[in-house]
Amino acid sequence: MKEREGTEKIELPEFPPNNIYPADWEFRNDLEWRLYSRSKREQWDEEKLDWARLDEIVTGLDNKERLAMAYWWALLSTFDNANPVFSYAVVKAHELKEKTAVRCLLNTIAFDENRHNIVCGMCINKLCPGFPMKFKPANDLEARARANIIWTWYNGARYWKAYLDSYNKYSTDVLFTSFMMGEAAATTVFTQMSGNTKISTFREAFRQIAVDETRHYAFTQLVMADGAEKMNEERKRLVTKQIKAGFIFLSLITYKLPEKSNTFWKLPHYFVEVNEKMEDIARDAGLGIPLLSEKEEAWRSAVMKVGSSLKRYGIRLPEIPELGISGDDVGDVDGDEIVPVF
Ligand SMILES: [Fe+2]
Ligand SMILES: [Fe+2]
Repeated sequence: MKEREGTEKIELPEFPPNNIYPADWEFRNDLEWRLYSRSKREQWDEEKLDWARLDEIVTGLDNKERLAMAYWWALLSTFDNANPVFSYAVVKAHELKEKTAVRCLLNTIAFDENRHNIVCGMCINKLCPGFPMKFKPANDLEARARANIIWTWYNGARYWKAYLDSYNKYSTDVLFTSFMMGEAAATTVFTQMSGNTKISTFREAFRQIAVDETRHYAFTQLVMADGAEKMNEERKRLVTKQIKAGFIFLSLITYKLPEKSNTFWKLPHYFVEVNEKMEDIARDAGLGIPLLSEKEEAWRSAVMKVGSSLKRYGIRLPEIPELGISGDDVGDVDGDEIVPVF
């Protein structure tokens, strides 16, 4: 690289490709800066939730109820163990020279997801310390509940491998817009649960998490706004498929196990039965888990929200017969194709 500086010719180095240098700090517009600013302003401290109040409430619960709630938080942690997903995205975004706003926002999302996951752990430790790995089941149902979580995490481990590979398969515009369905679903679910729960500590936790998830959704919109216009038809089809993947992946906790998802999920035969039992107990004890009809409604509105923003860019929704949503038939979604996060 040669550059004329004054009258002298100065030698400058060539930067290796896929590298984090040269640095740049340019935000391209006010919208980007405002979203980054908001991400810092809306930070909150999980330690400041009213944990003492939760202690009091837990004293009034029986063992079944404690286990069922711990079960749900552990299931949630499958999706909120997303700090490495975004931390890895931070590294990749630097190497691939994504714009400053994207790199900065991914950083804040990584921090948010870490907090969400710590909330899961803090709740579990109040309800059923050591669950699931150090938990000693007292009967078959407890043993199966424990196994359900461990199997779900095993699927999370498979997902992690697929996610790392996805950077070799998809462009970042497809990848980051793939997060959209997850963030939209998360926003809806946590808002709903903060309205439903009878436990004030959880109400505040859900409310704060929903604030974070709303911002994560805004991030995907920002990526979409400049990515989608440049996307060719093939990439647009991939986004459609990823919306479906988001539904299959997240339905496990936010809806019900989709019947046709079994190419992705590898779960024991008793999974659904035990999961429903745990959900029922936790719901009756006041956790705030929506009823199936409420879950359907939440998903439908999340998908419609995503659909209307995709429509502007000529990207179609996938067919989701479970929710009565007609769209493109994207075929089977295999485990190694799934990108979405929460
Ligand atoms: Fe999250
Ligand atoms: Fe999120």
